[in-house]
Amino acid sequence: MNEAWIAARMRRIDASGIRKAFDMAKTMVDPINLSIGLPDFDVPNPVKAAAIAAIEAGHNAYTVTQGIPELRELLQKEVDSAYGHQDRQVLITSGSSGGLLLGVCSILDPGDEMIVFDPCFSMYRHLATLAGGVSVTVDTYPHFRIDIERVNAAIGPKTKCVVVNSPANPTGVVASPDEMRSLAELCRKRDVLLISDEVYRSFSYDFPSESPARWNPDTLVIDGFSKSHGMTGWRLGYAHGPARLIQEMAKLQQFSYVCAPSVSQYGGVAAVGFDMGEIRAKYQAKRDLLVDALAELYDLARPQGAFYAFPRAPGNAATPFTARAIERNLLVIPGSVFSDRDTHFRISYAVADDVLARGLDVLRELARETT
Ligand SMILES: Cc1ncc(COP(=O)(O)O)c(C=O)c1O
Repeated sequence: MNEAWIAARMRRIDASGIRKAFDMAKTMVDPINLSIGLPDFDVPNPVKAAAIAAIEAGHNAYTVTQGIPELRELLQKEVDSAYGHQDRQVLITSGSSGGLLLGVCSILDPGDEMIVFDPCFSMYRHLATLAGGVSVTVDTYPHFRIDIERVNAAIGPKTKCVVVNSPANPTGVVASPDEMRSLAELCRKRDVLLISDEVYRSFSYDFPSESPARWNPDTLVIDGFSKSHGMTGWRLGYAHGPARLIQEMAKLQQFSYVCAPSVSQYGGVAAVGFDMGEIRAKYQAKRDLLVDALAELYDLARPQGAFYAFPRAPGNAATPFTARAIERNLLVIPGSVFSDRDTHFRISYAVADDVLARGLDVLRELARETT
């Protein structure tokens, strides 16, 4: 095939970091896998039953682009009671990734800048590239907190939006209400759009996570069922934001994804309001296990939410450290996958307790060997 057929934009999307991690994983037999960003629990039974009933009732066709009214109205009611914004509208999307793509492509023109925090979920920077934009990073090491002065300094004439993610992937850090409020107010004052990725919202252990939409009604919120209900393969998410922006995102969805998967949307109706408190308590216990095992041996910003921790690697060298972990059959991800730096590594604790315990034992041995 002619290499020139490949668009230049694809050359600007560098997937080598994560590919290297997966290539290394392929050589391992039955690894202790603390690398995966998906929950270890199954979809709740009522959600499965609703999806099966939908298939049997023949709901197997396209739906309206905005999403089936049953689901949209439930979510709209939740959003209205949380924020009371006149203008806030819900759009059902193909996963929260779908919502992010529609949002970023509806906002960025070529050359426009999008501010992201470093480290962050790698997709953000790739989406900016895809839209022809440029991602500008605001460093958050070593505590992974929002420094409002740094964000203010990063906003320039080309800045269109800021993306915030709390609880965060890969750090597990949850922004405090004060941090969120300052960011929301700064974006309002500087006239840039704030995108808030809240997919880990239900996993906040020390205090409830707050949406910046509380203080800034123009915020575009990205949410979904993948993490909260163990539905990663169902590709079901939703966005809510100013009606004018949601209208543009729906237009793009019409000509790209068409709609979120129909059957997943019917399952989603049963997922809204389903109490996941038991799962949250289990994940909080896993977080506690991890902090108890590692806090004294690693430089670790307290993970308060999601199901990740992001300790500093001994010697500030994450890739060699993850290679040593692999020699012990443990898989964790080097920070360079999420960051300009390669000093930290990501642990996902969304695994069975015995797997987590084995992984933590290896991490304790590795830390002791290097001190
Ligand atoms: C921060 C963050 N946002 C969005 C997503 C995408 O989730 P989904 O598209 O499955 O809803 C992920 C998945 O890992 C994530 O970590």
